[in-house]
Order: sequence, then C-alpha cells, then structure tokens
Amino acid sequence: MSTVLQPSFDAAAFKVTTRAQWQAAADAWHRWGPFVGNWLGEATEVMFDLARIGPGCRVLDIAAGAGEQSISAARRVGTKGHVLATDIAPALLERAAADARKAGLSNLETREIDGEALDALPAASFDAAISRVGLIYFPDQQRALAGICRAPGRQSRGHRLFDAGKQSLLLDSGQDHPRAGTTASTAARTAGPVLARRGRRARSDV
Ligand SMILES: C[S@@+](CC[C@H](N)C(=O)[O-])C[C@H]1O[C@@H](n2cnc3c(N)ncnc32)[C@H](O)[C@@H]1O
Repeated sequence: MSTVLQPSFDAAAFKVTTRAQWQAAADAWHRWGPFVGNWLGEATEVMFDLARIGPGCRVLDIAAGAGEQSISAARRVGTKGHVLATDIAPALLERAAADARKAGLSNLETREIDGEALDALPAASFDAAISRVGLIYFPDQQRALAGICRAPGRQSRGHRLFDAGKQSLLLDSGQDHPRAGTTASTAARTAGPVLARRGRRARSDV
C-alpha cells in the first residue's frame, strides 16, 4: 500500500520567509521606487480617487513597502490629514520614513504591522484603507480583509479597501476568496471606466 503525501501549506513559515525576503530586498525595492511609481502611478491615483482620499483624510496603507504610494497619499491629504504606512518588513518602512522626511512631510508615520493582524490598531481610526500589490502576499486574505474593513471609521468615505495592483486584482478575485473577489471586481469595474475617461484604455488583463 502506498501513502500519498498531501502537500501542506505552513502560513506561519511562509510569513517568516516573506518577511526575510522583503527585508533583504529593501534596498533594491526602494531603488526601483521611481520605476514602480511610473508603472503604477495612474492606477494609484485611481485607487486614491475611488477611496475618496482628499485633504484631511486619515489613510491606512497596508503592505506599504518603501512608501512610494504612501508619500503620494500624504501629499494628497495635506497637513490636516495623516497616513500610516504599515508593512511586515521594517527595513522598507525605514526607507519610507526617510523619504518622507526628505520631502518635508510630517503627516506620514510608519509602523511594522502584519496586514493580517490589524487588531493592534484602534477601531474607527481611518477614513480609508489602501493597499497596492500587497494582498497577494497574505496567506489568509479573508482574515486580512475582515481586519481592513474594521480599520476604517464608521464615518469613512465610500469604500474601505481598494487594491489597484494588477497582480492583487487578479489573485484576489479567486473563487476561494469571495469577499476579496467582490472587492477586487468592484475596484476593477470602477477603475476601468475611470482610466478610460482619462484617455487611457484600461488594460484587458487588469
Ligand atoms: C510588491 S511590495 C508592494 C509595496 C508597496 N505597496 C508598493 O506598491 O510599492 C509587497 C509588500 O508587501 C509586504 N508584505 C508581505 N506580506 C505582508 C504581511 N503579511 N503584512 C504586511 N505587509 C506584508 C512586503 O513586505 C512588501 O513591502
């Protein structure tokens, strides 16, 4: 009789590896910031528009990395607003904080937080939550989304989570994650016309 070994996924080990890889890649990811900003810049602006991020807004950025989009958000919300850039890899957040200081932005704060464990944040403390190409790294996207939906305040403007990253939209719309799928397809549906209106055809694979 032969034994069939079932592959098992160890979420905790995956997270340890993910963190270590991003810690090691911090410098490189930071260096590529302008390229990524250029690549995802328009989608990022759409994400901000959809999340109704404007002056005075309190924004939670999940899996913020080296903070390229957090800094754009901080500029948008202005001195009366606030951005909390969170990530599992502190080496990336150090780059985000340094860039914010260089840019003279005092409304951007960073904190090492696992995007699947946002309970550490006070409820109702944000007007909007954003994440750009972040959710794909979360082993339990349902849990992450439940936490993210809890993070914005009850008076928050419009939708609570938009992930404009192409990869996230694709992966989040898997049938295993119905709530993620709903959020992602809502964002995709809405982002398409917005991009089209801006004179750019929405790419068919987004
Ligand atoms: C592709 S980078 C995107 C960074 C940034 N949002 C951007 O668009 O430049 C993915 C990020 O997800 C972060 N990440 C992965 N797993 C995470 C987790 N469980 N909680 C928080 N951040 C996580 C990584 O450290 C990395 O910074």
